[in-house]
Parts: sequence; structure tokens; C-alpha cells
Amino acid sequence: MKIAASTILITGAGGGIGGALAEQLASKGAALVLVDRNAERGERLASQLRAKGARTRLLVGDLTQPTVPLRLVADAIDQAGAIDILINCAGVQNFGYFADEAAADTTTLFNVNTVAPINLINAVLPHMLARKGGQIVNLGSIFGSIGFPCFASYSASKFALRGFSEALRRELAGTGVGITYVAPRFTKTPFNRNVVNRMADALKMNQDEPADVAASIIEAIENDRLERYLGWPEKLFVRLNAIFPRLVDSALIKQADQMRPFAIEAGR
Ligand SMILES: NC(=O)c1ccc[n+]([C@@H]2O[C@H](COP(=O)([O-])OP(=O)(O)OC[C@H]3O[C@@H](n4cnc5c(N)ncnc54)[C@H](OP(=O)(O)O)[C@@H]3O)[C@@H](O)[C@H]2O)c1
Repeated sequence: MKIAASTILITGAGGGIGGALAEQLASKGAALVLVDRNAERGERLASQLRAKGARTRLLVGDLTQPTVPLRLVADAIDQAGAIDILINCAGVQNFGYFADEAAADTTTLFNVNTVAPINLINAVLPHMLARKGGQIVNLGSIFGSIGFPCFASYSASKFALRGFSEALRRELAGTGVGITYVAPRFTKTPFNRNVVNRMADALKMNQDEPADVAASIIEAIENDRLERYLGWPEKLFVRLNAIFPRLVDSALIKQADQMRPFAIEAGR
């Protein structure tokens, strides 16, 4: 899908990957509808982009609120005239032992990571189908293909988003509306709180810059990719986990031992 002259709705635009995406998409000539739940932060980003000549609008909304996805899509179409590309980038993470996780946090996580993207797609699809064109981009995770200890609900929310993306792209074949599922690995953004960063350093996890992740997402959009998994050896582990999950079990159970002090700290 061509970026230049497209109108792109991005959720989580105030975040690390979302902000980098907004900047790079704007510099490629896209018109942007940024979604942020923090009006002040969103307006700051929108003003910076406008100062560089980008056509940018801001919509404010909390994606855990059930009526918000429908309202955001209606407002975006009303104000920008169309949505060519929807990027579901907003997300939250729960880290620690699942036994310590508050049920309310699990609910919020699924609402932001899974329910809101699905509801946004549901709201925008009639518009895209009527125009016989559009691209939906869902930000998943490597943990959406490898169930990762101490990230159980997060992994599950991204597994669900990946399954939804796969099913819907098969359903939409031939309609002109495409789905791209992108799975980053650990990325240096505020998404990972201090204890998670220290754990990632201790485990020597590969860590990407948000600008590089944004560039990979844009490459996936421009080339109409169905899926994009970021990083070696993570890509290989995704395949290995699908074919030989017991092999990955033993590696991750060993790693879970190293994660223990950090998971205990997160639960305090
Ligand atoms: N960073 C990583 O290591 C990593 C790895 C793999 C995949 N990902 C995925 O990449 C995507 C972007 O992550 P990121 O690293 O850019 O995270 P980030 O910097 O934390 O940004 C996430 C954005 O989502 C917004 N958000 C959270 N809850 C929301 C809600 N209820 N309503 C509206 N917006 C909400 C956040 O707003 P607030 O700041 O107000 O909370 C923030 O702007 C996520 O889907 C994440 O799962 C990230």
C-alpha cells in the first residue's frame, strides 16, 4: 500500500513505537489521525508534525471504553474524509507471576491489546469494503507466537490478535482490504518498566530502537506483507516453537529461573 497521500489512523501515537511511526509516516507524505488518551501529549506531537508540514489531526480517547472505537472511526472519517490505513499500535503489558496479577489488570490488558483493535477494525471495515481498499496493521509481538513465562496474559492477548489477523485476512481475500500482522521483539520504549528492562539486560535479550521498528512496520505496509516478525533468532524460535514446542519448553523453563527475582519484585 502506498503511504504518500494515504490517510492513516494510528492508536498509541503517544507511545515509543507509535510516535516514531507518526514521524516517519508524516515524512513520507501521509495525512495522519493520531489517537492518544493524553490530550496534552497528543497535541504536542501533532503540533511538532504540523510544524514540519504534515497534515495531522488528533483524536483523544481511552480504548478501554466500549463506545470509543466506534466514535474514533466515525470522527476520523468525518474530519479526514477517509481512512486508508488503520494501525493498531496501542498496547499494555503485564509482567510477573500470573498468580499475582489482579483480575482488573488482566481485563484492561485484553481490552487494550485485543478487544479495542478488533472493535476498531469492525468499525472501519464497512468503510474500507465500500471503497474496495484499505490496509489494517496489527501490532503483535514475538510473545504472540511463543507463550512466554511471566507474560502469560500479554502473550495470550497477542496470540488472540494474531489468530484474528490470520482468520480475517483469509476472509477478506479479494476484497482489496489487506491485513498486516507485525511482531516486534523487545523494543526500548516506556512500555517496558524498570524491572522489565533490568530483567531483559540480565537475560541479554536483543533490544531494538523504536525508530527501527517503525521503519520495519512501514516496509511491511509498503510491500503489503501478511506478517512480519522482527529479529533473528526470534524469527527462528517462532518457527521452532510451532514445530517442536517441547524443545522451546526446556529453554524457556530454564530462563524462567533467571526471571524469578524480577517476577517476585514485580508482584510486590
Ligand atoms: N516495546 C516493546 O518491547 C514491544 C515489543 C513487542 C511488541 N510491542 C507492541 O508494540 C505496540 C506499541 O508499543 P510501545 O513500545 O510503543 O509502547 P508504549 O511506548 O507504552 O506505547 C503504547 C501506547 O498505547 C497507549 N495506550 C495504553 N493504554 C491505552 C488506552 N486504554 N487507551 C488509549 N491508548 C492507550 C499508551 O498511552 P499511555 O502512555 O497513556 O499509557 C501509549 O501511548 C504495543 O502494541 C506493544 O504490545 C512492544
